[in-house]
Amino acid sequence: MSKKRVAVVPGDGIGKEVIPAALKVVEATGAPVDFTTFDWSADRYLKDGTTIPADGFNMLARDFDAIFVGALGDPRVPTNIHAKEILLGMRFKMDLYANVRPVKLLDETLCPLKGVKPEHVDFVVIRENTEGPYVDAGGVLKQGTPDEIATQEDFNTRKGVERVIRFAFELARKQGRKKVLMSDKSNVMTFAGGLWQRVFKIVAAEYPEIQTQHMYVDALCMHMARDPKQFDVIVTNNMFGDIITDLAAALQGGLGMAASGNIHPGKTSMFEPVHGSAPPFAGKNIANPIGAISTAAMMLEHLGFAQESERINKAVLAAVQQKKTTSDIGGTLGTKEAAEWIVGAVR
Ligand code: NAD
Ligand code: IPM
Ligand code: MN
Repeated sequence: MSKKRVAVVPGDGIGKEVIPAALKVVEATGAPVDFTTFDWSADRYLKDGTTIPADGFNMLARDFDAIFVGALGDPRVPTNIHAKEILLGMRFKMDLYANVRPVKLLDETLCPLKGVKPEHVDFVVIRENTEGPYVDAGGVLKQGTPDEIATQEDFNTRKGVERVIRFAFELARKQGRKKVLMSDKSNVMTFAGGLWQRVFKIVAAEYPEIQTQHMYVDALCMHMARDPKQFDVIVTNNMFGDIITDLAAALQGGLGMAASGNIHPGKTSMFEPVHGSAPPFAGKNIANPIGAISTAAMMLEHLGFAQESERINKAVLAAVQQKKTTSDIGGTLGTKEAAEWIVGAVR
């Protein structure tokens, strides 16, 4: 297979530690992948005002097969403008409409719930990734006065809702999963929820072998914490998907464990751990690299290197079972040492 080109953006905080660690693991698999690292981050923005260079998104789409991102967010940039332009820029301007966030418990000891075993937590959240309140439409009137008004508009298009719901059913079919659950707040947000409800029924009819289910998002949170084994594939909007995947990460052992891909089939897609830059952890060699390493495995699978991806997943599982991990999940190793152990297991 020809060499694949991957653009790497470590970003801020612990992104600068977990991404190099994950790259070493990818290299250990021998997968034919070339990495090109870009310094887009808070440091770069504070130095010369660049968030993403002009033509940056076209360049990524034209010259690369995938993008591997750490995290963006830094207390020195309180507006978060660089994260918005780089991270949300990739999702929106490159039209990466399906944010795929697998939720898999690797070892019983990592789950905060009593008696919950690995076979009880194995589902995938598909988060709509290009619409909702994230589109940055809205405004402020009479700012700073007692009569101030702030609006933040929630965009839901027929095409956007339909394509992400269809993506969820296609993923269920491809992975041999049996159920797709759509979650919204259609009891209150009737316009947006009504569209999601109607489109969900229409698309579901094309997949008669797959069971469908609906939950309001508040009830979904309750069920996720009480009985996660009932879930298989969950599809929801941008905002709810953001919130429920932090909760879902806790079921897997915390944010340090959660992986994700931002996908548009056939286009250059972007892979990033679910966690952020965790400023209090940065520069201390304590961040868990597994979220980033599992994300790299997802990326390799997406690029057509299924065997290499599987080797990484097996090595991660061994690390977790043998407690060769960072302290957030019960080990005693640093970021680098935990990744090195996985490198050894891959080899
Ligand atoms: P965060 O995910 O950075 O950290 C929250 C907590 O989760 C940490 O305090 C830590 O306890 C735990 N955690 C996260 N990653 C971990 C890891 N690898 N190992 C061990 N523990 C880990 O979220 P936050 O503190 O709300 O946000 C910090 C900054 O990151 C903000 O600027 C935010 O906007 C940004 N952010 C960026 C992304 C992204 O780039 N994809 C995602 C989330 C947050
Ligand atoms: C995530 C993050 C981002 C989001 C932020 C940093 C913009 O929380 O990837 O989950 O809200 O999508
Ligand atoms: Mn989030």
